[in-house]
Formats: sequence, C-alpha cells, structure tokens
Amino acid sequence: EHITIFAPATIANVGPGFDVFGLALNDIGDTIEMSLKDEKGITIINGTGCEGLPTNPETNVAGVALKAMLQDLGTDQGITIQIHKNITPGSGLGSSASSAAGAVFGLNCLLGSPYSKNELVQFAMEGEGAVSFSPHADNVAPSLLGGFTVVRSYDPLDVISIPVNMQLWFTVVHPQIEVKTSDSKRMLKREISLKQGIRQWGNVAGVIAALMGGDYDLLGRSMHDPLIEPIRSMLIPGFDEAKQSALKAGALACSISGSGPSIFAITASERDARSVSESFSKIYKRYNIDHHIYISGL
Ligand code: HSE
Repeated sequence: EHITIFAPATIANVGPGFDVFGLALNDIGDTIEMSLKDEKGITIINGTGCEGLPTNPETNVAGVALKAMLQDLGTDQGITIQIHKNITPGSGLGSSASSAAGAVFGLNCLLGSPYSKNELVQFAMEGEGAVSFSPHADNVAPSLLGGFTVVRSYDPLDVISIPVNMQLWFTVVHPQIEVKTSDSKRMLKREISLKQGIRQWGNVAGVIAALMGGDYDLLGRSMHDPLIEPIRSMLIPGFDEAKQSALKAGALACSISGSGPSIFAITASERDARSVSESFSKIYKRYNIDHHIYISGL
C-alpha cells in the first residue's frame, strides 16, 4: 500500500506563546510518499528540495520519529519514505517538524491507526528534538492536529486544540539568511522576573480569548512578546522596519515565526495579507536580501 500525505508548515510561538503556541498554515507544506515494505529497515529517499538532508534514519528527523513509533509498537516493520519539501529547512516555518509529523501520521495510517493524532505528537517531537537539540512540540503539534494548538504541558505531554472562531490570514516573509534554532535558543535568558511573567501570561490568555471569541481587536492588543522577540530580532536584518510597515499596511500583529528568520503578520482579510506582502517585499528589496513570501489561511 502506498499513500501520499500533505504535512503543513507551521508558525511556532505565535507572539507571546514561546514553546507553547503553534498554528498550521493550510496552504504551505511538504508532500510525503510512504509505503510498507517486506524487508526490515527504514529507507529514506530525498525528494525535491531535500538536497543535503541526511538519508540515514538515525540522523534524519523523519527516520528518528518513525523509529520512536516502531519501538513503542514493538515491531520492525520496514518502511520506504520520500519527502518533497516546499518549506526551506532553517526558515522558521517548522520544516523539520513537518517531516517528523508527516512521517508518523503516514505510518499510523498505513498500520490502521493504532494511535490517535494526539498520541503521535510524542514520536514526532522525538524526531524534531534529534535535529534541533531542543525537543519542543509547538511545531509538530499543529502540523499533526491542524489549526491552533497549545502545548499545555511538556511533562506529561498535553496538547490541546483551540477552536478559532474568526477568519485569519498569514503573510510570511522568509529573508534568506540562516538562523539555527539551537543558536537562537541559546541566546535567550534562562530566567524571567515575576513582572515579566505577569505581562506574558496576560497576553497569552488574551490571544486564546480573542481566537475563541472572534475578537480581532483583542488579538491585536495581546500579540506582544517583550520577552523573546527583542533578543531574537537582533539576528534578523530589517525586522523592526518590516514589523512597522506590516502594521501600517493593516496587519493586526507581526512577530517572528518560530526561531526565525521568517517574520509573520496576521491580517483579517486576504486583501490586507497582500498589502502586507507588498510592504515586506519593498523592505527586503531595499536591503538587497533575497526573500520568499507566502500567504496562507489558517
Ligand atoms: N519554540 C521553538 C523556539 C520553535 O522558539 O525555539 C522553533 O521553531
């Protein structure tokens, strides 16, 4: 049996929700082809856009995730997997997470769904952790579950889906400079003050209430991240200008996607999403930095 899967790209952190919030971009993602085989072992074939990625299942993100799942099942079922990437690795759009999430989702389908989607998050997180050296579930969870997700707890892992009762559009600009998740995690402070905590969880609660209540104004007011954004944005040339121009062009909010360098803006309509796209483009043309722009619904 052979199946083809779409594994959506994701935006992690989404403003104030560092390592906790994540959302799936409906219109951007990888295509994964998978089948079971009679011989043991995981065969990884690099498809389009996978140049330079390891095909060894011990070091490939999808391979590690599949091995974690096979081990839990107590089987040595053989698998062939080919990934076609539309998301550039290192963009901050959860490229490795999509591979891990798609792989375990695909294997689960091929085996007759022994696990719920929620249970698959753990295996995908193990794959993601192997390449980013920091296991986090805020990209794999939305890639698997779709929509907007919250990692309420890591130990034990508890992922919840938030019903979004409003139309939202996302414009993402990927300036082609490399920022490694491991590096941009290392530069963060290990401790925060109570005052900073209070401000952050006030905004976190505000974002959730806005999404569930369909309140655009509240979403704009709550999408602030004074903890991480000011530090990480130092690695992204043009960030402040891009953010200001997006807000001027009608965005409700603008922040860093995952650990960067991609920047995302949220808008209430596709028309506003296109205006933001033009404003992003103008800035990165001026900076002479090659860039790619994506527009997607939630
Ligand atoms: N929450 C992770 C981080 C996501 O910000 O490092 C990485 O995409």
